[in-house]
Amino acid sequence: MGGKKESVQQLDDTYSASQDALSLLAENAELSDQDGRGVAFRRAAAVMKSLPEPVTSMTQLRGLPCLGEHSLRVIRDVLENGASREVESMKQSKQYKALKVLTGVFGVGAKTAARWIREGIHTLHQLRNSGHTLNRAQQAGLEHYDDLNQQVSKAEAEAIQQIVEEVVASVLPGAKVTLTGGFRRGKLMGHDVDFLITHPEEGKEVGLMSKVVSWLESQGFLLYQKTTRNSYLVSDDSPALPPSNMDRFERCLSIFKLAQDQPHRAKQLGALPLDTAEHRRGDSGLQTDQDSCSQRIQTPGGQEDTKPWRAVRVDLVVSPISQFAFAVLGWTGSKLFERELRRWAGQEKAMSLSSHALYDNKKRKYLQASSEEEIFAHLDLEFIPPSERNA
Ligand code: UTP
Ligand code: MN
Repeated sequence: MGGKKESVQQLDDTYSASQDALSLLAENAELSDQDGRGVAFRRAAAVMKSLPEPVTSMTQLRGLPCLGEHSLRVIRDVLENGASREVESMKQSKQYKALKVLTGVFGVGAKTAARWIREGIHTLHQLRNSGHTLNRAQQAGLEHYDDLNQQVSKAEAEAIQQIVEEVVASVLPGAKVTLTGGFRRGKLMGHDVDFLITHPEEGKEVGLMSKVVSWLESQGFLLYQKTTRNSYLVSDDSPALPPSNMDRFERCLSIFKLAQDQPHRAKQLGALPLDTAEHRRGDSGLQTDQDSCSQRIQTPGGQEDTKPWRAVRVDLVVSPISQFAFAVLGWTGSKLFERELRRWAGQEKAMSLSSHALYDNKKRKYLQASSEEEIFAHLDLEFIPPSERNA
């Protein structure tokens, strides 16, 4: 029955259209530095996503949590008109377009973007010509804008993992590298690649980050990096920090220069015989040897789109083994999942969960854990695997 199939398809479209509309409102709120509103719309979008079947009438939404007046108005608009007028006009607005462009620059947050927009800066071109002094992060962000706004694939994440594993193993044998963030949740694309590094012997991880960063820099793998020191202090009686999204691990925010496998280019430039170039295709884009072609070749015109590498945002975090389970849990996300988990810990269990520790407010002590499973057990929750933490 073609007709029926078609209408089911339409329903599905409406269903995801309302999710998309709510997600866009969330994004706009976040870009506008209104995180509270952002969370409300994200929750509403997550509720819509979790429904077992397409919504055809508003009555189906009765009694559902997290759907406020505003979200319901948007959903009704989508149901009745196929789109939300509010969202459509927001998408067309100069303000939204400018916010998206400017906050798309690495190193530029909502506040800075808003300030620039008030000064009449709406485009990258205007920003470049504004005479504003940009900090190092923003300069790198502007320089690698296109690359950094292009999604990172799982294959690219794995290529970077191989590089990171190699350097970590060479500067501290026995140290362990774990891929976290969205890729650990099984996502196929991401905006960056997140790694957590530890060593099975407490204290051995001290000094590791600077060695890793120096090695990466000396090999030309880093286009930008900023390392912040560990500022977490464990105290015996109360949590050293309140549960929040901020953690205090030693962390390196970086932009990697990832070689892309383009054997045809090597051939085109006459730099390598084809068979050698093809042989290289098998080695996952890893370029550690000094004579590799990809990092050194300047393309004839030097055009961005034909360069043999791309810029990728990479976060490196070092954790002592005693905090590792909490760090993995905290850095695996999603952000919404983490927020819900911490809320559960606080409200239902009177515990404070962070990426460093779990503190029992009633027993007035820290609860140790050496795996994510143990943390879920402390929280009286069934273990939720990373792939189910995407909501
Ligand atoms: P990301 O922002 O990298 O998100 O944070 P993601 O889930 O990997 O998705 P992409 O990268 O957009 O594809 C990953 C996790 O790390 C935590 C976040 O809470 C999130 O759960 N995180 C991030 C921190 O704990 N601290 C930070 O400073 C940044
Ligand atoms: Mn990530």
